[in-house]
Amino acid sequence: MEKKSKKRKTFTRRDFLKGFGGGALGAAVVPKYLPPAPAVLQTKEGKIPHYSRKQITITVNQKNYSLEVEPRETLLQVLRERLNLTGTKMTCDRGECGDCTVLLDGIPVYSCLTLALRTDGAKITTIEGLADKEKLHPIQQAFIDKDAYQCGFCTPGFIISSVALLKGNKNPDLEEIKSGLAGNICRCGNYSNIYEAVSAASKRMGSS
Ligand code: FES
Ligand code: FES
Repeated sequence: MEKKSKKRKTFTRRDFLKGFGGGALGAAVVPKYLPPAPAVLQTKEGKIPHYSRKQITITVNQKNYSLEVEPRETLLQVLRERLNLTGTKMTCDRGECGDCTVLLDGIPVYSCLTLALRTDGAKITTIEGLADKEKLHPIQQAFIDKDAYQCGFCTPGFIISSVALLKGNKNPDLEEIKSGLAGNICRCGNYSNIYEAVSAASKRMGSS
């Protein structure tokens, strides 16, 4: 008798990038966070695109901020340079590593690829927003317990992606953990400890 091959759909890094801010992680947000169409200015030399500054209000880690942003400013720049929330890391600054991952209305996105002016009205969670005063989030604690970091540069991004993963899947198996974290890269190659930490956190969170 022919054996049925049990094919599992694996989620690759390419899938993550194709679906950045979307796909498995919430397709609905894609159009909202695309760059806006510019106004057009008529000059002596002809027509040129004109982007203007914009006042935005965002909620970051449950605190409201109202600020004027330039069209070129990314959410990552606003978080780090204007709100002094430097836990979110700027590493590649071009959508390759996932170190800058934050939750935007609950969905993990690369903040280096997200224009700040498109986040008006959004709720953002960064690594600084996870702990409950002195008590670390269970995923943060699991990363410590399982030695899931070396240089630590990728850690905030991995933890934020893990929060999103465990919100949608309370008891992921190894393949599902790998899939959920496919948008994050650890240059130190500490993947096995990271996966172990996420698995331990899921059990801890499930039993609490
Ligand atoms: S800093 Fe944003 S993906 Fe690397
Ligand atoms: S711990 Fe160094 S990049 Fe991941």
